[in-house]
Amino acid sequence: MTISATSPAPRKTVLDQAFDSFSDHWAPRLAARYNGNEVRLAKVEGEFHWHSHADSDELFLVIEGELDMEFRDRTEAMRAGDLIVVPKGVEHRPCARRGEVKLLVMDADGTPNTGDEATAFVPVELKV
Ligand code: NI
Repeated sequence: MTISATSPAPRKTVLDQAFDSFSDHWAPRLAARYNGNEVRLAKVEGEFHWHSHADSDELFLVIEGELDMEFRDRTEAMRAGDLIVVPKGVEHRPCARRGEVKLLVMDADGTPNTGDEATAFVPVELKV
């Protein structure tokens, strides 16, 4: 098998180490890129704000803690191991009301986490 010289070497991410490397909330770290998507890790606590993403479905996997994923018509209670995909254009509000929650989130490259370029926290590279 020929490996292209331009392909980056595969590199694993140890989630425990990755989450230990930062402590700020609602500030996603970039763990990997995958087929035009960004794999982000975030710690969250408290309520985010209502928003949607016009151009990207958004996948959430709860790694630790309890998350309320609010939609205009219902709330999905999520715990570690639960996964949900929020379709593009659907308003949502992730809330962590019972302590800190660790999340893995996938969005199309460059998608603003707040739904708005002006207020987005641009994911920074992991330092592990
Ligand atoms: Ni979102």
